[in-house]
Amino acid sequence: MNDKRAIGIFDSGLGGLTVMKEIRKALPGENIYYLGDTKHVPYGSKSAATVTRLSSSNIEYLLKQNVKLIVVACNTSSALSLADLKKIFRVPMVGVVEPGAAGAVKASVSGRIGVIGTTGTVGSGAYRKAVKKLLPGARVYSKACPLFVPLVEEGWWDKKITGEICAEYLSELRKHRVDTLVLGCTHYPFLKKAIGNVMKGATLIDSAYETAHAVRALLAQKGILNTSGRKPAYRFYVTDAPEKFKKLGSSFLRYGIEKVKLLNID
Ligand code: DGL
Repeated sequence: MNDKRAIGIFDSGLGGLTVMKEIRKALPGENIYYLGDTKHVPYGSKSAATVTRLSSSNIEYLLKQNVKLIVVACNTSSALSLADLKKIFRVPMVGVVEPGAAGAVKASVSGRIGVIGTTGTVGSGAYRKAVKKLLPGARVYSKACPLFVPLVEEGWWDKKITGEICAEYLSELRKHRVDTLVLGCTHYPFLKKAIGNVMKGATLIDSAYETAHAVRALLAQKGILNTSGRKPAYRFYVTDAPEKFKKLGSSFLRYGIEKVKLLNID
């Protein structure tokens, strides 16, 4: 069946564009509506109750735009709120934690897996739980890296100081000899090179890439792929500062974002 309705993606801000980018690659025929809650970013340091409330508002808005599936691109929302959100909304929903964990389990040879993310994501233990569910004998080592998000937003993707901060944060994971490292935050794919230089020999798992493939599989399973062959439409919504989103987002996506609509949702 051909279903032309759009895929709805939301994130706390612009980081989720890394997920959108992978979805565009995996599903070039799909319409995509992206909502960045730029008014309330960061989610990484907020409580689960607040993250669930904010995530619910984002989903409600996207549902009003008649989307067929929701992608919770924010790792913090996926880690803290996905289970509750699935109880509240009936729309098919994909988070980033389970696909990222599955990718790590597939890639790891030793079963020693590292996870990095925001304070909220790491504190929730969601990745550990998801990995253990698939591979009970796995040894999971996690580390919150709160400075990574501002470094990425500043565009300091491969500065010397970025390498030094990576080395500091990741030293414990190196000691634990993890052979696989999950980049459990929307922003971290931008630091792949700097992180890879420190974690030599470890496989880096990009949750965005894994999630895009999970989205494709779910759309196919439900028979709701867009098979029209038409040029897709992309829409962007934010809750604050649309101009900043347009500028930074275009460089994040390497795609010229033309229009960003400012929403008044809370
Ligand atoms: N999008 C968030 C995540 O993936 C990072 C930014 C934030 O803290 O809101 O966890």
